[in-house]
Amino acid sequence: MSTSDESPGEYLLIRNAAEKERLELQFKSWQASIGYLLHPSITQHDRMRIADVGTGTGIWLREVAKILPSSCQLDGFDISDALLHDKSNLPQNITFYLQNFLQPFPEQFIGKYDVINVRVMVVALSSDEWEPAVRNLMTLLRPGGYLQWVDCAAHKCIVKAPEGANPVNANRGIELFRKTMNALGKTPNIAALYGIFQKSGLDSCEEQIITLENPEVRDNLNLSVAIAIAHALTAAFKLHKLEDIQSEDEIAKLKEGMLEDLRTTQCYFCFDVHVVVGQKS
Ligand SMILES: C[S@@+](CC[C@H](N)C(=O)[O-])C[C@H]1O[C@@H](n2cnc3c(N)ncnc32)[C@H](O)[C@@H]1O
Repeated sequence: MSTSDESPGEYLLIRNAAEKERLELQFKSWQASIGYLLHPSITQHDRMRIADVGTGTGIWLREVAKILPSSCQLDGFDISDALLHDKSNLPQNITFYLQNFLQPFPEQFIGKYDVINVRVMVVALSSDEWEPAVRNLMTLLRPGGYLQWVDCAAHKCIVKAPEGANPVNANRGIELFRKTMNALGKTPNIAALYGIFQKSGLDSCEEQIITLENPEVRDNLNLSVAIAIAHALTAAFKLHKLEDIQSEDEIAKLKEGMLEDLRTTQCYFCFDVHVVVGQKS
């Protein structure tokens, strides 16, 4: 595994095979409600240069490679390559670079991109890092290029349950997740992202808010959230920032309890995804 300079804040997830699998599951279950990879307002052409920042497994880039001509150049940036899908099996127009996106990018990337995509940074960035991140990413854009950011209001995730059901573990998981995010300063107001885009000087800003409630992918979404909670709690436990949990075994039991609640009580995790887009003048 390679890692570039670490972010000043801690990353609140783990990087292993189970997290890779979870990210792919999460991507598919979000896409079932979002429906597009590039926001409809983004003008497309055959020679686009696109970057996915905090690319993780690279799933968004791999899906974009399927719908755009191979003449488009697709670059993935991440602070670590530990989650990246098998590098030898990536489409030839995808290139990966190690880069902390809170640090200035090397000159070769400045002003070169038609689209910068960012997705699911809610547990990666501390609350005061969102605006510097937007401003830093804007340096990558050509005039007329777009910044597209897809993220979720994780701290507002709720457990919806039928009357009379009592999903104790699912509720405890969400409560501990929220407490952990607060303890680590990951309390971003996603609703403020649109304002940050405007304040940073992006034009033609648009925001779409999508509540993830598609019953067709509910099981996969539930699974990806329960595992995300377990992984976040594990990361926090390893950082000694989780007083309520005494062992990793306790986290494993909580995860099993959440999955049992989801299976047996018809309850489900529900939250909003925000897609925010803006254009560099
Ligand atoms: C929750 S994952 C999301 C991955 C991918 N965007 C997706 O939607 O599946 C967050 C990713 O951002 C990366 N990351 C976190 N902080 C970063 C930073 N400061 N610079 C670059 N990448 C970062 C992590 O290593 C991880 O791969």
